[in-house]
Formats: sequence, structure tokens, C-alpha cells
Amino acid sequence: MLRSALINVMTAAARKAARGLRRDFGEIEHLQVSLKGPANFVSAADRRAEQILREELAKARPGYGFLGEEGGRQEGTDKTHTWMVDPLDGTTNFLHGIPHFAISIALEREHTIVAGVILNPVTDELFTAERGKGAYLNDKRLRVAARRRLAEAVVACGLPHRGRGDLAVFRSEFAAVQDKVAGLRRFGAAALDLAWVAAGRLDGYWERDLSPWDMAAGEIMVREAGGFVSDLDGKDAMFATGSIIAGNDTMHRELLALIGGSGRSRTC
Ligand code: IPD
Ligand code: CA
Ligand code: CA
Repeated sequence: MLRSALINVMTAAARKAARGLRRDFGEIEHLQVSLKGPANFVSAADRRAEQILREELAKARPGYGFLGEEGGRQEGTDKTHTWMVDPLDGTTNFLHGIPHFAISIALEREHTIVAGVILNPVTDELFTAERGKGAYLNDKRLRVAARRRLAEAVVACGLPHRGRGDLAVFRSEFAAVQDKVAGLRRFGAAALDLAWVAAGRLDGYWERDLSPWDMAAGEIMVREAGGFVSDLDGKDAMFATGSIIAGNDTMHRELLALIGGSGRSRTC
């Protein structure tokens, strides 16, 4: 598979940041048993990873804007391009020594996501996608799962937790879907949930209260693998509403109908 210069730039930045995260992740199990715990250490790891990504991406594409979870927005001289970056998606997993987290990088060109890279530093699974050029896991072309029956579907979701999200809304959505599918999962890294939909491992995924950097790379990954993505009103306003639902055409439509019909649907 021949990668474009753009995907090479994004991949190289992600790999450099991944080296640091892998090292830091190796320290977590020692910190787990210390009285202080790993929380401060993890936020430092997170900030360091974002700094590497900022520097590497700026070196390769000077002038592009940058939106990162840790350091916020930095306007570029080139107003048409913005990097959207989550240096560590799945922080709670990382903090608990669970090897399921990722670096997520997307490029937005004139309000459209044109490329995405999602890298799990532990498994070394690299998901890449570019508009019109398909989605890949390492060198393998990706295609969303073909399952058409909810009864056979494995679906992932987000889960409101302390201080985040509306539990009552979630419970009614969860109940509506739970009753119809083969399995529900909560993995804890939105970027990987979307990458796994693209890879056909998951038949569907929905979540609320996300930020653009959680979804941007995953959105193009699913679309380039032939899947469908929208917000929970069935519109294309994921970044504005913070909600997202993804799957193949049938799964997307049926899950959207279930969740929309669960009686408590709302716009964030
Ligand atoms: C979180 C993860 C998680 C999702 C949360 C996100 P973070 O991102 O993607 O799966 O449920 O809502 O905030 O904080 O680990 O970067
Ligand atoms: Ca995130
Ligand atoms: Ca994060």
C-alpha cells in the first residue's frame, strides 16, 4: 500500500508521540501501588504527547491551525487547514493500566475532515484514512461489517460517569438497544470505537457529550470504510452536538431509530 505524503506526516508524528506514551504506560503499574497514584503523572504524559504532536505537525506543515485537547486552539496563518488532535484518547484506561488507548489526529480542510490517523501505541495498530482513498489498518484495506440484523450485532457505546453526561437519557437509550442486539460493549476510547466500526469488529457505536478531537479521525475512518456516521438527530452536526452514531447503512439507520425512539433523546 502506497501512503500519501499527508498520511506519512501524520503517521510519523503519531509514532513519535507513541514512543513516549508507551514508556509512560510502562511506569503506570509502579505508580498504581504508590500512595500518590498515577493521576499527575498521566496528565504530564498527556501534555508531553500533545507537545510532540504540535511540534512534529508544525514542522511538516507550517501555518496550519491546531486544536488539541490539552492546549486548546492555536490559529495558523493558513486559515483553511486545522489539525484536530487528541494526544491520549482513553485516559481512564491508561491511568488504570488498561492497554486500550490511542493517539488520534485528523486534518480539517475548509470544515471537512480530509484525513485521519488513529494509533494504539500498545498493540501498534495503525488506522489511517484519507478522503476518497479508503481506510486502512496497517496495510489492510478496511470495510465495515456487512451484518444486517441487529440480533447479530455487537454495538459499543459511551457511558456517562461521575460529573459527565445524562444518566437518565443514557439508560433509556441503553435499554432500547440492549433488548435488540447480540452484545453491548463499553471500551473507553471513542477514537478506537470508531476505528473498530471501520474495521468491522463492531457493528455500531453511539455516544453523547464528545468533543471534536474524540470523533474527527474516527468519522473519516468509518466513512472511508463504507460506513455511515451522523449525530443522534441523523444530521451531520457531530461537532456541534457532541453526539455520534456509526455503522453500516442498515445498522446506522436501525440504531438511530431505536435511540431516537427511546423517548429521551435530546440535543446536547
Ligand atoms: C474520552 C474517551 C471515552 C469517552 C469520553 C471521552 P479522553 O476521552 O474517548 O471513551 O467516553 O467521553 O472524553 O478523556 O480519554 O481523551
Ligand atoms: Ca478523548
Ligand atoms: Ca484525551
